[in-house]
Formats: sequence, C-alpha cells, structure tokens
Amino acid sequence: MTITLIIDGQKIEAEEGATILEVAREHGIEIPTLCYHEALQPYGACRLCVVELAGPRGPKLVSSCSYPAEDGAVIETNSPLVLETRKMIVELLLADCPDVKVVQELAHEFGIERPRFELEDNDCILCGLCVRACKEIVGVSAISLVNRGVDKKVKPPFEIASRDCIGCSTCVFVCPTGAIKLEDIGEPKLVHHWASDFEVVQCRICGDHYLNPEPITDYEKLFAEET
Ligand code: SF4
Ligand code: FES
Repeated sequence: MTITLIIDGQKIEAEEGATILEVAREHGIEIPTLCYHEALQPYGACRLCVVELAGPRGPKLVSSCSYPAEDGAVIETNSPLVLETRKMIVELLLADCPDVKVVQELAHEFGIERPRFELEDNDCILCGLCVRACKEIVGVSAISLVNRGVDKKVKPPFEIASRDCIGCSTCVFVCPTGAIKLEDIGEPKLVHHWASDFEVVQCRICGDHYLNPEPITDYEKLFAEET
C-alpha cells in the first residue's frame, strides 16, 4: 500500500512498512546515524537520528531508524529541537569517547569544541552494531552487551573466550570506532580476537593466508582456571 507523508515540507509517497529514515534517505534527505546499518535490524541506541513528528498533542521526538513512516505523518528532520537534541547527544558522546574519530567529526559538525561534562577515555559508543552483526549475519552470538548503565560493555559471555567465535572479524569491520582490535600476536602467526586466539594458516594451493576458524584456545584449561 502506498502512503503519503510530509518530510521537511516535501510531500512524499512511500510504500507502507518502511521506516522514516529509509523514506527520507530514498528522497535525498540526510539524517545522521551511528547505530544504524542497512544490513541489520534497527536498534535505536544512539538516538542521533531523532526527528520531530507532529501529533495531536504536539510534536514528539522519535528515532527515525526504527519508527515506521505512517500515512499522513508530518516530520521535521532539522527543526531547532531536533538539532539541539542531536547536539546534546554528540556532546555526551564526545565526553565519553573524546579520542574517537567519528565522534570528533560529529562534534566538529555541531560546533562543539569541548564538552561541558567530565571526560572519560572510552572507545566504544555502545552502538551494538558488532553484537547485531555477530547474531544476525554470522549467526553465532559470540558477543553481547553486558551490564547496565555506566558499566555496560561488549563482551563474550562470562568475559572469557567464546567457543562460538569463529574469528570472522565481522565485528571488527562493522565497528564505527575501531574499538574492536584484531591483534597479530606474533609467530607462528596468531590473531587475538576478543578472548580467543586463532591461527593464520597458508593455503597450500593458492598461497593466500586465512584465519583457521577453529580457535586454538585450550578451553579445558581455561575453564579449569576460571573455576
Ligand atoms: S565495539 Fe564498536 S560496534 Fe561494538 S558497540 Fe562498541 S562501538 Fe559499536
Ligand atoms: S541511528 Fe537511530 S538510534 Fe542510532
């Protein structure tokens, strides 16, 4: 079914079922995002994509990446309230992750030089992209968001090497901040991934190197140490 809505004063026709963000982008209306990826389910974590949606009791802010585009909706993507809200989100992010390039670039865009809040030194913005990619694309859920509030972080279950991790590095590639490191830990060529170690082996036919998806972690020893 075709619906009609208004975004930034522009009358737009769209197919029912799309989100506000999808409809806006299809029509060249840019909305900033951090935790959105078109290959993954929306998560609504960063709130950077907020837009103003008119309603009978006045306008409200909604996350455009997860909110459905509805027939008759009137949306503003750059109203003063939207810009003020996004600026506050970026300022908080900058205080939390002052050395993260993607956050610095956003801060620059919003004219923020120095956040008013106490500086931390985190490099994870808790966007959850790595966790969703591991679950939805790789299908293993080797990592998840653990704890709450200020202690929230991405970790393998029980913060020890996960038997489910295949060292595919999807989480490394999808992470917008570089918070996930794939470390070369020397010869014989080993790669450290979360709490698991993987061996890089050479193909006898083509000579290329690839990661052996079987972690070399000695789980029996590890679990014996943990208990
Ligand atoms: S590690 Fe990277 S992808 Fe995962 S939640 Fe943190 S910033 Fe997002
Ligand atoms: S991009 Fe929509 S909440 Fe993060």
